[in-house]
Amino acid sequence: MATLLKMTQDYAAMTAATTAVSPAAPSQIQVRGVEKIFTVGAQKIVALQGIDLDIRKGEFVCLLGPSGCGKSTLLNAVAGFQPPTRGTVTADGKAVTGPGPDRGMVFQEYALFPWMTVAENVAFGLQIKKMGKADIAARVEALLEKLHLQDFRNRYPKDLSGGMRQRVAIARVLALDSPILLMDEPFGALDALTRRTLQDELLRIWEEVGKTILFVTHSIEESIYLADRIIVMTYRPGTIKQDVRVDMPRPRDGASAEFNRLKRDLSQMVMEEQQRFSADEIRSVTAD
Ligand SMILES: Nc1ncnc2c1ncn2[C@@H]1O[C@H](COP(=O)(O)OP(=O)(O)OP(=O)(O)O)[C@@H](O)[C@H]1O
Ligand SMILES: [Mg+2]
Repeated sequence: MATLLKMTQDYAAMTAATTAVSPAAPSQIQVRGVEKIFTVGAQKIVALQGIDLDIRKGEFVCLLGPSGCGKSTLLNAVAGFQPPTRGTVTADGKAVTGPGPDRGMVFQEYALFPWMTVAENVAFGLQIKKMGKADIAARVEALLEKLHLQDFRNRYPKDLSGGMRQRVAIARVLALDSPILLMDEPFGALDALTRRTLQDELLRIWEEVGKTILFVTHSIEESIYLADRIIVMTYRPGTIKQDVRVDMPRPRDGASAEFNRLKRDLSQMVMEEQQRFSADEIRSVTAD
């Protein structure tokens, strides 16, 4: 009897443990009850409030919303650059307490080292990781090829176009092979054609390497073109207004009825928040 009881207890403990590590729908990034308050003088700005978000491994998720709604603040909380005032962020089951090699970040303003060539910029993170010289050279070469940068390997960032610089920034993050890519309006400053080319390249790479991508944009079309899911945010406090699944096959046709239906729905949602943003701007100008 005692043995049977012991076995039952062991089985219960085993199943409990199994449930804890492999829930039915495992999420790679978990955001729970995240709030971020900035204090500027006497003013408290509630940038984020009550954010709950689950992102599965391999998902491409866009954060969409007007200026000032907290997209970068949320991305920075996941990156570990800015801890939330309240709530938790977990990546691969570990609490995020700072930046880590599991989460690579691509910024809007191409954060490249101006004194390094293209190849040196891409190699930088690998040298920090103390990877061997031959391995670094091989990985850098493969990435330069993947991003069509072979002929620019010895150029400096100042001699490249915006699109090229952003390619280098993407190559540099891919070099680290982080399972999670965080991208803050990476194509925001590019012309429409370059932007589309880079969007296509990013989708190609994402399909090839199976990374999880959290991508900030305020472009509705960009979010529909890229994402598996679009998280629409409200303006101040930044909360999740809607979590929209996009099931259209890729490459997505911007002229299709389905694309345009979704574009209209999302425009309506973003417009509501944009109006709150504009009203807020006018209020702050009148108060000055
Ligand atoms: N370091 C800071 N100190 C004070 N307020 C901040 C700080 N960072 C962000 N904020 C405020 O928090 C809110 C959200 O800012 P955030 O930069 O996350 O918005 P966003 O959605 O990324 O906007 P954009 O599209 O313009 O980049 C804004 O009202 C902003 O003014
Ligand atoms: Mg931002």
